[in-house]
Amino acid sequence: MKTIFSGIQPSGTITLGNYIGAMKQFTELQHEYNCYFCIVDQHAITVPQDRLVLRKNTRGLAALYLAVGIDPNAATLFIQSEVPAHAQAAWMMQCISYIGELERMTQFKDKSAGKDTISAGLLTYPPLMAADILLYNTDLVPVGEDQKQHLELTRDLAERFNKKYNDIFTIPEIRLPKVGARIMSLQTPTKKMSKSDPNPKGVITLLDDPKQIEKKIKSAITDSEGIVKYDVNHKPGISNLLSIYSILSNTPIEDLEKQYEGKGYGQFKTDLADVVVQALAPIQTKYYDLMESSKLDDILDEGAEKAAKVANKMLKKMENAMGLGRKRR
Ligand code: TYM
Repeated sequence: MKTIFSGIQPSGTITLGNYIGAMKQFTELQHEYNCYFCIVDQHAITVPQDRLVLRKNTRGLAALYLAVGIDPNAATLFIQSEVPAHAQAAWMMQCISYIGELERMTQFKDKSAGKDTISAGLLTYPPLMAADILLYNTDLVPVGEDQKQHLELTRDLAERFNKKYNDIFTIPEIRLPKVGARIMSLQTPTKKMSKSDPNPKGVITLLDDPKQIEKKIKSAITDSEGIVKYDVNHKPGISNLLSIYSILSNTPIEDLEKQYEGKGYGQFKTDLADVVVQALAPIQTKYYDLMESSKLDDILDEGAEKAAKVANKMLKKMENAMGLGRKRR
């Protein structure tokens, strides 16, 4: 069975973008692959976090993974900082990364732009991500489009290590969803929907209530044409809404275009709000139940133990390949 690894940062409430770009793929793939799904809290501290909020978001993200349908009997769910091999392997990956290639990462450029002080961790975040993936002999990494560049770097680093030290890493492939690889902000549809967007009106979170969802969708930026048609370049707002509608209702975009021919945006937005509310309602019910139960902690304890067993084996191979420590008998 082939292996999947993917991770999500507990840096805020999970958005519809994270769900459509990443989590939905996870639930669809979990029974066909040996899956590791990670709450990457060490990635989250590359920018300042309040300690209590981070703790709450970490546990909340674990509950959301389960609430969207991750089956802990099929997949291994764990918290990155609870498996120390990630940080240990990340150091080795940093030592084979070049500063120039890290500075070229779009996400680093975006997150550091205009800041006086930038943490070194923000720059060395991609080698940590590479370590996450490579520790598990990962074949496939399902992510949204914004992670493509980091995945390409992971492949480069794996090949570099294999050539220079020992051929131990599997070179992972990226998997993007066919529709919804980049869900955009409802207020600025040329910018991706993001957990850290300072404007909450542009972002639907998985925990928004029906009133908030309706309000945000009704005020989503579209255009003055009033024609429901998918055209990312000329009509980014309505195209983004069409993608969300199509994925959550399992209806091809062309069918939706036909259904709303001559109807304008008002009806379309009312129906879309309904579709989103219906899709999120069962997830929210499960989420609140899980947050109250100790089951969540048992699953995370077990996940960390299972993940550590696999990760520690690869860590040893990496250390042997680079000559760290004494050769173990
Ligand atoms: P993060 O936490 O920013 O996002 C988690 C996942 O959600 C996807 N995503 C989106 N997809 C579609 N539309 C959007 N607007 C949108 N916003 C986010 C992301 O592409 C991602 O798949 N560095 C990663 C976390 C990470 C990771 C890993 C991922 C750490 N180690 C190893 C895969 C493998 C990140 O910050 O994702």
